Amino acid sequence: MVFLKNALLTLAFALDTSLAWSPTNGYAPGNVTCPDNANFIRKASGLSSKESEWLEKRNAQTQPALKDFLERADISDFDVDEFFSTLTSNVTIGLAYSGGGYRAMLNGAGQLSALDSRTRNANETGLGGLFQSTTYLAGLSGGNWLTGSVALNNWTTIEELVYNDQGDGVWDLSDSIFDSGGWNIFSTLERFKDIGDAIGDKEDAGYNTSLTDIWGRALSYQFFGSDNDASAGLTFSTIQATEEFQNGSVPFPISVADGRVPGTYIISLNSTVFEFNPFELGSWDNSLYAFTELDYIGSKVTNGTPDSDVCVQGYDNGGFVLGTSSSLFNQFILQLNTTGLSGSIYSLINHYLTSLSEDYDDIAIYDNNPFYKTEYGDSSSTLESQYLYLCDGGEDLQNIPLTPLVQPERDVDVIFAFDNSADTDDYLPDGASLVATYERQFGSQGNGTSFPYVPDVNTFISHNLTTKPTFFGCYASNLTSLARIPPLVVYVPNIPYTYWTNTSTFKMSYSQQEKEAIVQNGYEVSSRYNLTIDSDWQKCVSCAIIQRQLEHTNATQPDECKECFDNYCWDGTLDTSNTTYSFSRNLTSSSNIGKPDTSSIGADSSSTSTSTSSSSTASSTSSSGAKKNSAGGHIFGKACGTFFVATTIASLVALTL
Ligand SMILES: *[C@@H]1O[C@H](CO)[C@@H](O)[C@H](O)[C@H]1NC(C)=O
Ligand SMILES: *[C@@H]1O[C@H](CO)[C@@H](O)[C@H](O)[C@H]1NC(C)=O
Ligand SMILES: *[C@@H]1O[C@H](CO)[C@@H](O)[C@H](O)[C@H]1NC(C)=O
Ligand SMILES: *[C@@H]1O[C@H](CO)[C@@H](O)[C@H](O)[C@H]1NC(C)=O
Ligand SMILES: *[C@@H]1O[C@H](CO)[C@@H](O)[C@H](O)[C@H]1NC(C)=O
Ligand SMILES: *[C@@H]1O[C@H](CO)[C@@H](O)[C@H](O)[C@H]1NC(C)=O
Ligand SMILES: *[C@@H]1O[C@H](CO)[C@@H](O)[C@H](O)[C@H]1NC(C)=O
Ligand SMILES: *[C@@H]1O[C@H](CO)[C@@H](O)[C@H](O)[C@H]1NC(C)=O
Ligand SMILES: *[C@@H]1O[C@H](CO)[C@@H](O)[C@H](O)[C@H]1NC(C)=O
Ligand SMILES: *[C@@H]1O[C@H](CO)[C@@H](O)[C@H](O)[C@H]1NC(C)=O
Ligand SMILES: *[C@@H]1O[C@H](CO)[C@@H](O)[C@H](O)[C@H]1NC(C)=O
Ligand SMILES: *[C@@H]1O[C@H](CO)[C@@H](O)[C@H](O)[C@H]1NC(C)=O
Repeated sequence: MVFLKNALLTLAFALDTSLAWSPTNGYAPGNVTCPDNANFIRKASGLSSKESEWLEKRNAQTQPALKDFLERADISDFDVDEFFSTLTSNVTIGLAYSGGGYRAMLNGAGQLSALDSRTRNANETGLGGLFQSTTYLAGLSGGNWLTGSVALNNWTTIEELVYNDQGDGVWDLSDSIFDSGGWNIFSTLERFKDIGDAIGDKEDAGYNTSLTDIWGRALSYQFFGSDNDASAGLTFSTIQATEEFQNGSVPFPISVADGRVPGTYIISLNSTVFEFNPFELGSWDNSLYAFTELDYIGSKVTNGTPDSDVCVQGYDNGGFVLGTSSSLFNQFILQLNTTGLSGSIYSLINHYLTSLSEDYDDIAIYDNNPFYKTEYGDSSSTLESQYLYLCDGGEDLQNIPLTPLVQPERDVDVIFAFDNSADTDDYLPDGASLVATYERQFGSQGNGTSFPYVPDVNTFISHNLTTKPTFFGCYASNLTSLARIPPLVVYVPNIPYTYWTNTSTFKMSYSQQEKEAIVQNGYEVSSRYNLTIDSDWQKCVSCAIIQRQLEHTNATQPDECKECFDNYCWDGTLDTSNTTYSFSRNLTSSSNIGKPDTSSIGADSSSTSTSTSSSSTASSTSSSGAKKNSAGGHIFGKACGTFFVATTIASLVALTL
């Protein structure tokens, strides 16, 4: 069996099998001989040489794809060939998918599919080709389940994940991971026994584990299919060995998590934002300012140098990485009592609940700490600890993974920020994650990054900035007081058009029908209702993409782009009424399909909402002054980063404008 599995894997990832799976072929990491004179750490002062080499191949593919995309836009008085001939750098596009559980994963999937030229009709009714023009693909928590599922399933299409010949696609969410066998309790028990065995193997190999190991392993059955124990040995660094990635025909996937020492709280101003990419794990923040080679994490090192000639591979398990980015979901496991589960499943989980204190329950333990005694960075708690502690990427309230995309080294021109957060009481976004990232640039972790001005969350709601896509940072001339000119940000919030896509973050199972309906609504969100709300949407997106380069060469903005900007750019005004807005939304009624009643979206009208609360208060501060975490809706117990006084934001924005 093992031989057969090996043979198949060798076929699948023929390029570099040493990177493909854990040396044990299972969930446990395995020992290997260290490379000669190994040191896995580098200072975060630039891109890794591997990323730079990869970029050359990717640029060779994105620029022609973008050329097609811009030609399709057919902007008057804009010559595509001339544009490319005057460029001084490649046009770099980043996509960012927010957290928010399966809601974020499914909405994000639809939003992504409208950008992918492989999707049926996306060239005609969407933004087909934008995905092909994209360099960076960042995901966080539920959004990372999406990007991770795409990347680790050989860059499959959303159609394959959602539907396929068998009907259900790769993502079978009809049963919750806590109840994987559905009516068949023995099948559920069997699954949990397998999970328990896998984690036991990791413990037997000498590693401390955490609830995130169970969480990541359980999720893997939904993301990677159940073959080979849901690809138990599949690693995140496998991505660098796949042919599609190596020849630059797919974007650079980035998974975001936060550092958090047990017992501490973090907010965007003092969090250390980590990224996993196919080559490395690390952070650009000055608290760490270092990266380590991802495929060797788990090795015992001091300042990056292995303590012996025995190194470790297979620690960067794919499910574990996706689980880490979404580790807030350990909160679910703490809710087990309410699920009615019992017996061995309960005992398995209880093993962790009793051996870990409350402070550890939503933290992923990385044993050994790859940054132990690293010479860069100033966070002694990270650098002196035997373990590296990571938690859900949204716990610092930056629920959209923007940090990796605003690094000057990556020189991104435009970011598409897909926000499927549950900020409001009816689980819709209110811009809070943009506010958190905006504020961060002025704190000690800002470190040369820059992000466009955004308003307070009250203005987001009252000025209708969450009822259609909004552009931020449109004109560089208005941004000269920031550390540098930031990327232009195209904000795409979740808007229910044809389905109530504002489901709870804690909804753990979705029928095939629900899943398809949410994905379709996601498609409609990023295509502006299949280009029917605005037939110029593809053109306007093109205008956003070319803006920084036009400004760089002092070229005149085409009139049609100016019109688009008048329509989509935030005009810089703030809500000063000091009122608390209550808002509700109507779904486009089914008799109106194709002719959406957009006026009702965001309007202050009474709603006939069925599945959610019909109206809600969307003020910037709740009565208690505590803010929900965007990733998870309500946080149970004392998860980090939940205390956030938003009243300061409006004044901060006002001051800096
Ligand atoms: C991955 O996908 C590409 C493009 O669809 C295909 O050519 C290749 O054979 C696939 N690789 C594997 C290992 O399935
Ligand atoms: C792996 O190496 C460590 C440290 O050298 C050792 O303690 C452990 O027993 C080894 N594990 C296996 C399975 O050989
Ligand atoms: C775009 O990237 C390619 C490959 O990295 C490079 O050769 C080329 O000079 C870049 N183009 C511009 C305009 O900088
Ligand atoms: C969309 O257009 C691109 C290039 O313009 C093409 O390669 C692709 O096949 C088209 N997609 C579909 C589904 O026809
Ligand atoms: C981050 O800032 C918050 C708010 O000031 C504070 O409560 C928390 O202790 C800080 N966390 C760390 C790790 O410094
Ligand atoms: C970022 O942080 C590092 C480490 O503290 C520091 O060396 C570097 O100069 C900072 N970069 C900027 C642009 O501030
Ligand atoms: C679950 O219920 C049991 C018995 O009522 C209790 O002892 C235990 O602490 C509860 N566990 C959690 C995680 O709430
Ligand atoms: C927001 O949209 C509603 C409904 O279309 C409209 O009545 C209101 O004037 C808009 N607010 C702003 C500031 O544009
Ligand atoms: C929009 O296009 C998608 C993909 O082709 C399709 O599934 C959906 O039904 C269309 N929606 C509307 C409202 O036409
Ligand atoms: C663009 O205009 C600015 C200010 O007028 C000037 O400093 C800069 O050199 C010009 N850049 C180019 C590429 O012409
Ligand atoms: C930004 O710049 C544009 C053009 O330079 C100007 O029309 C606009 O009023 C400025 N302010 C804001 C907040 O966009
Ligand atoms: C805004 O409203 C709050 C609560 O109603 C009140 O305490 C505060 O004084 C108001 N601020 C202004 C500037 O009116």
